[in-house]
Amino acid sequence: MGAKDYALGHAEDELVRLGTQADVIDPMLRRTLLEAGISPGMRILDIGCGPGYVSTLLADMIGPDGEIVGVDISATALETARMRVDQLGLKNVRFELGDPGNMTFDRPFDAVVGRYILMFLPDPAAMLRAVAGHLRPGGVLAFHEVSWPGARSFPAAPLFDSCCHWLATTVEHLKADPQMGMKLPATFAAAGLPCPTMRIEQQIGGGETAFKTVQLIVDLIRTQLDSAVASGVATEDEIGIETLMDRVIREIVEKGSTVAGRGEVGAWATLAR
Ligand SMILES: C[S@@+](CC[C@H](N)C(=O)[O-])C[C@H]1O[C@@H](n2cnc3c(N)ncnc32)[C@H](O)[C@@H]1O
Repeated sequence: MGAKDYALGHAEDELVRLGTQADVIDPMLRRTLLEAGISPGMRILDIGCGPGYVSTLLADMIGPDGEIVGVDISATALETARMRVDQLGLKNVRFELGDPGNMTFDRPFDAVVGRYILMFLPDPAAMLRAVAGHLRPGGVLAFHEVSWPGARSFPAAPLFDSCCHWLATTVEHLKADPQMGMKLPATFAAAGLPCPTMRIEQQIGGGETAFKTVQLIVDLIRTQLDSAVASGVATEDEIGIETLMDRVIREIVEKGSTVAGRGEVGAWATLAR
């Protein structure tokens, strides 16, 4: 698989969106990683690292005595990742270009971590099986994926619900899996790995505190607008991207709705010693 096959692309606005998304999702991932046993001094492989937000979160958790290797198939994303790490002055984070399913590393890792990567792969179990081979005995696998059907509103906010439906359909149209989070135990099993422990969180809010939930959704529609229209779920006029954020927030405030975004699913397992 090459960078051109990756569904969401690496345009500048998409790389920026990953940063805005990381601000909201990183605390959720941090809780998963803590429960998974990520701790100071570990050597960790971050697969599908993109612009490196998971890598820098991991660097904060493992401290100066640990080491992070981020891997991605996109040279453009890695350029941003390297720039961010330089700006942060992190000496123990480096990035390698490639597909971690086919790469070799000089030493085994204590953990393999990935966020929003398995959903884009034609055979996620094959990737899990391959990257488990990069671990030492007793090493940890920790993944974070989405469950789009978990998004909802109450009382119903139809435009918010439509946005979630547009995205879940667009993701499918791009041959990615909007339900990957809920498939993690079956995928671990298909890879011959132990059944993972799991957690789920959602961005949730009502009235003006729904802003972050809506922003994540509208930002993704904006960067994937062409694909959303091509998937046939809505026309560009129906989406009306320039005013979408305002319309969704107004609807939520007027209806007194509470809105919950997609499920953010964490799953982790430890290999036998
Ligand atoms: C949605 S982005 C997530 C980036 C990052 N993990 C985060 O949470 O911000 C998915 C990334 O996976 C990368 N990717 C997709 N397939 C890959 C593969 N087979 N090997 C390595 N990276 C891959 C893409 O290039 C992209 O940068």
